[in-house]
Formats: sequence, structure tokens, C-alpha cells
Amino acid sequence: MQLIELEDVAYAYSGNRLLQGVNLHIRPGSFHFLTGPSGAGKTTFLRLLYMELMPTSGTLRLFGKDAAALDRDAIARVRRRIGVVHQDCDFLDHLSVAENIALPLSVAGTPSPAAEEDLAELIAWVGLGERARARPPELSGGERQRAALARAVITAPDLILADEPTGNVDWDMSLRLLTLLIELNRMGRAVILATHDLNLIRAAKAQVAARVLRIRDRHIEPAGAEL
Ligand SMILES: Nc1ncnc2c1ncn2[C@@H]1O[C@H](COP(=O)(O)OP(=O)(O)O)[C@@H](O)[C@H]1O
Ligand SMILES: [Mg+2]
Repeated sequence: MQLIELEDVAYAYSGNRLLQGVNLHIRPGSFHFLTGPSGAGKTTFLRLLYMELMPTSGTLRLFGKDAAALDRDAIARVRRRIGVVHQDCDFLDHLSVAENIALPLSVAGTPSPAAEEDLAELIAWVGLGERARARPPELSGGERQRAALARAVITAPDLILADEPTGNVDWDMSLRLLTLLIELNRMGRAVILATHDLNLIRAAKAQVAARVLRIRDRHIEPAGAEL
């Protein structure tokens, strides 16, 4: 089964057509970059995949289910299998970093002791062990992005959507975030990483069999060999 299937999908904001004729299959466990200039529609495309937006026309299937046929509960169930990392990560500033990361779990129910252990392990994995008790406003940009990544994957999603997670951090931190996403991919998660940073894509290609999708002229197509 494909994780994501799009058939002739189009999307328009109030009549202003942004994407059209999008045909795409994303396999479980694959790694895709989504690139294209600012304003091309990268964020819009990721919002379609998270069903924050619905296609204006065409068919979007997630985990084999037609997005248009899902009711609210079904949408919530599908979303639990998707982790999202935004460029501008929002946190609840009155909660600690650890509490923010655990938030998706507390929404799903009371965390068990085993879940507490997993949380500590996850926080250590993103390198925030020393910062777990800090409040989000005390974090650097790179720390915020790593906390956002940890929060996105705490529910062990099958699909991770990362929207320019390296947009506001320096090169070393970009590589570190990339490494975390590649490790998640090696653990079997599908990753879609939107970025306009071609150097990041080049750096990834040495480490992972990533495909590059590009938005051009409202279509999403495989990028050529020039990358
Ligand atoms: N909510 C919205 N309403 C109307 N137009 C929007 C909305 N969100 C984005 N757009 C427009 O759609 C285009 C693509 O935006 P976006 O998907 O954010 O591109 P990217 O992430 O590639 O920079 C831009 O021209 C943007 O101004
Ligand atoms: Mg964007």
C-alpha cells in the first residue's frame, strides 16, 4: 500500500490556482525532499497532506483512505500517524520543554511509566537532556527546532512532514537536524522535508536514498539530475 496517493490534485486559494495536475505516490519508509522557490506552494502542499486543506479537485488518499470521505474522528485518527514540524515552532511557554514534547501524549491519555522513559530517551536523542526543565523562551533556535522534532515524533508517526525546519538555524545545526530525520527514516518512518536549501539536499544524498520533488509551474515533478 502507498502511504500517500494523489491523483490529478489541484489546489486554489479563493480561485487563485496554486497547484494543479499533481500525481504522486509516496511509499512507506521513503525520504522525499520538496523544493521550489518561496511562494511555490511547499507549505500549502504539506497542509494538504495533513488535511488542514482539502484539494479543490482530484483525489488525495492517505494510508489508503480517501481524504474527502473521512469524518472528523477519522481525520483525527489519520493525523495521529503524522508528525509535523513547522518552521516557526509554537510552544506553550508556561510548560517545560519536556512537558511540551510530551503534550501529544497527554492529549491521547495519561502517560504510563514506560512512556515517561521513552520521553527521557527521546529528549536525550535530540540532545536536549540538559534543557528538559527549561521553558521554551530560554531555548536557542536550534534547540527549539529539535524540541519541535521530538514533539512531532513522540507518538511514533509513520509519516513526518517537516516544513523548512532548518530555515532559521546555522549550517551545523541544519546538518544535525538532517541527521535526526535520516535516523528516523532508517527506523522506518517516511519523511517529507520541504526546503529551498539545495546544499542540504546535496548533503543528504550522500547518506540516504532521497527523492527530490520540485514545484514548478504549479506541478510537482521529480527534480532533474542537476541537484
Ligand atoms: N491562506 C492563504 N490564503 C491565500 N493565499 C495564500 C494562503 N497561504 C498561502 N497563500 C499564497 O499561496 C502561495 C504559496 O504559499 P506557500 O504554500 O506558503 O509557499 P511556500 O511554502 O513554497 O513558500 C503564496 O503566494 C502565498 O501568498
Ligand atoms: Mg513555506
